[in-house]
Amino acid sequence: MMRDLWLVLRKFAANAKTVATIAPSSRALSRATIRGIEWAKTKVVVELGAGTGPITEELVLAAPPGVRLVVNEFLPEFCAALRDKFPGLDIAEGDARRLTDMLADRGVDRVDYVLSGLPLTHFAPADRDAVIDQVGRVLAPGGEFRQLTTAPWLFRGLYRRYFREVSFRLVVWNLPPGGVYVCRGWIPPAERAAAGR
Ligand SMILES: C[S@@+](CC[C@H](N)C(=O)[O-])C[C@H]1O[C@@H](n2cnc3c(N)ncnc32)[C@H](O)[C@@H]1O
Repeated sequence: MMRDLWLVLRKFAANAKTVATIAPSSRALSRATIRGIEWAKTKVVVELGAGTGPITEELVLAAPPGVRLVVNEFLPEFCAALRDKFPGLDIAEGDARRLTDMLADRGVDRVDYVLSGLPLTHFAPADRDAVIDQVGRVLAPGGEFRQLTTAPWLFRGLYRRYFREVSFRLVVWNLPPGGVYVCRGWIPPAERAAAGR
């Protein structure tokens, strides 16, 4: 745990906008992120921006055999830490803006849950659109996009641009307190534009 904290702090000092946090997510936040996943109906879960893997850890513990996990992270040092901790897990090293290609490389065309630790609110709007729309296109009917935050409720309106239903789970036991936006029903770009969203 101290090793992960130190690694995150060092990477934050070097790439503050990419890492966007000074500490890995707490166990409470990690558990809240995966709580309620309907495992019996789930074939594929993708995690974006996994960092040192606090959510990955809960995911690996909870996923029944046969559920495919694809774990993405951009920074090579975090990817090395993930490979070390989770031997055999599919670590998709690279930019989440290339999500469609990463999944195509793996023959994955439908995803039930996308769990994101990406600092999407620090992304340029066009990059944020690109990531969320790739997620929306690949989500199975009834699938969910879950986005971590350390800004409780603040960005509910932002995610409502992209999804018909957005709820928020508050987690106070995190540094700083945060939570998870749970989003369903992706709205394609043409529909958003027509509705002035
Ligand atoms: C706020 S941290 C969350 C880390 C981890 N999920 C957690 O909960 O502790 C954001 C993570 O997203 C990664 N990241 C930022 N931009 C990315 C991108 N374009 N593609 C993939 N990962 C990215 C960062 O390197 C960092 O590990």
